[in-house]
Amino acid sequence: MPFYIKLGNVPHKRHTTFYKQDGKSLYREELFSTKGFSGIYSIKYHLYMPPQVENIKEIQKENLVEWKEAPLQYYHFVTERKKSAGNFYSARNEFLRNSHCIISTAQVSEDTDIFYRNSFMHEIIFIHHGSGVFYSEYGQLTFEDWDYIVVPKGTTYQMKFNNYNNIKLFVIESDTPFEIPNHYRNEYGQLKEDAPYYERDFKVPKFMEPVDKKGKFSLTLKVNNRIFEYELPHHPFDVIGWDGFLYPYSFNLKEYAPKVGKLHLPPPIHLMFITEHFVVCNFVPRLFDFHPDSIPAPYYHSNVDSDEVIYYVHGDFMSRTGVKETSITLHPMGIPHGPQPGKMEASIGKKDTEEYAIMIDSFSHLSVTKNVKDTMVEDYHHSWLEK
Ligand SMILES: [Fe+2]
Repeated sequence: MPFYIKLGNVPHKRHTTFYKQDGKSLYREELFSTKGFSGIYSIKYHLYMPPQVENIKEIQKENLVEWKEAPLQYYHFVTERKKSAGNFYSARNEFLRNSHCIISTAQVSEDTDIFYRNSFMHEIIFIHHGSGVFYSEYGQLTFEDWDYIVVPKGTTYQMKFNNYNNIKLFVIESDTPFEIPNHYRNEYGQLKEDAPYYERDFKVPKFMEPVDKKGKFSLTLKVNNRIFEYELPHHPFDVIGWDGFLYPYSFNLKEYAPKVGKLHLPPPIHLMFITEHFVVCNFVPRLFDFHPDSIPAPYYHSNVDSDEVIYYVHGDFMSRTGVKETSITLHPMGIPHGPQPGKMEASIGKKDTEEYAIMIDSFSHLSVTKNVKDTMVEDYHHSWLEK
């Protein structure tokens, strides 16, 4: 998140001596940076040297389940139909993927003391149902229903839930950072008056005392399609202080302040985050278009450069029949889509909507996995036929 934060103790000047209480051993400075040394970064001060590792082993190949014969068609799949179990990272079921974007859901059923790091992809973890604390080297971040937690690539973290009943996560991975759109920010980077959110809406980590413990600590690393286990000789959350612009943060979907128009406004009006290869948009409760003859439901459209993915969070979605919470629809590029029979007519004269949903428009085609095949509503692609 691009605003400056300083937590804990840091030396007066970067890249200078910073001694522990004994006056002779150094805290270990680590620059955590993006785009080489040119993007946003943070500087962390550790009790121990960050590269220390005792053992490295590959624990499994990721279970790739691409459905190669999947036809080009519309998909509606109910992610809840694919039960999952495991901890905050192992419970993920992957539904859609390409080299820039991976979309999963997870029903977390158990706690773990293992730490996790996605080495090659940034993550958004949307907490559909669940509450607890997200721990990282940067401190602790409490989370609750409908929080987006944005995790920079390479962050070591652990999630602890208040209880392990009925947890549901929607996870988006990206090979490029999740960014706030430039047109929401002024020349100094501050969010503008007409942006749908403000700095105050974002939660940032709270300082956590460094954990000074030696022993054996297990870190799971996701590296493309391979999973590694590192045995660390010290606790990874050993940071005495840090400052900078790069850290995990959160934003609650209910804080998004939508914009409305006289006539139907296209999806970019709902933008939340952008990456180089896809965007994330929020559909939240809002007043409908106020022209007396307006049609609130969208017109049919062919986005020849976008695969459209919608994850349904809550409420009736105005343009879709049969979707429910945790459903995902995929409307791929190359074929037109829009409201199903009756939905357009039913929207006329309506004043508002209570829907909550998250949309991902991907500029490169997403492959579907066998998890889609296992959970799909079979006849969805015929649901535009008028009977
Ligand atoms: Fe669309």
